[in-house]
Amino acid sequence: MEIFDRDGTALAYRQLGTGPVAVFVHGFPLDSTMWLEQLELLRDRRRCVAVDLRGFGSSDAVAEPVLAMEQHAEDVAALSDHLGAERIDLVGLSMGGYVALAFAELFPQRLRTLALIDTRAAADSEGTRAGRDMMAVRVTVQGRGPLAVEMTEALLGPTASLHIKARMRTMVEGTRVETIVAALEGMKQRPARFDVLSRLSIPVGVVVGEDDTATPVSEAEEMVDAALAATLTIVEAAGHMTPMENPTAVADALARLWAQAGHEGSPSDG
Ligand code: MLT
Repeated sequence: MEIFDRDGTALAYRQLGTGPVAVFVHGFPLDSTMWLEQLELLRDRRRCVAVDLRGFGSSDAVAEPVLAMEQHAEDVAALSDHLGAERIDLVGLSMGGYVALAFAELFPQRLRTLALIDTRAAADSEGTRAGRDMMAVRVTVQGRGPLAVEMTEALLGPTASLHIKARMRTMVEGTRVETIVAALEGMKQRPARFDVLSRLSIPVGVVVGEDDTATPVSEAEEMVDAALAATLTIVEAAGHMTPMENPTAVADALARLWAQAGHEGSPSDG
């Protein structure tokens, strides 16, 4: 892992490959290890950088009671500066997709392409917000064990291997309880961002697992419909964690998206 000092908060990231910078943002309550296969598969096309968002993984613990998507987006912009990348290919899964959409709203000119994987542009419903409140109380009282079991079952498709289930469990159980609570609050507060998609003129790729029940195909289709020009890839044999469950299909979709950017970029292009 490498460390970037963001105004006194250490943000950790892993990188592999050379070329224009692509930044990968993980889901909730996970970390950059969910992208290991993608970094390996795409290292010949991009300098692939997977960040641990503040509070997560090997990044510093933080005292903020709310981890806002916009704050994470500002961190991604600062990391891109640190990497010397004016423009990036941004890839986000689920909560990482919420962060990517916040980034697209704040810094549209800094995007070369945008990949939204197993995510949604809609805001939380009242029911989802209430569920997040209950989850925050449960994880604080009971610890992460039950949440890890529940999320591993809920997020992976029926064909996920034991090894992938084990990695999911490690990520959830490795996430600080206060980070989980603050991230739940941050996700609750995020607005819908269909309008952001409708304004973006860069290539947008929407990817979803055919067996994703957390952010189903219908939500992916809503994003494609809202975007000016987006492509939809439905990935076979995958639930919500497509980059781990069917890595080759996701890497192929990203390679196709990046090829649409028109050129492979120059080092000064990030
Ligand atoms: C995730 O995978 O990041 C979560 O399912 C996002 C969410 O809870 O909305």
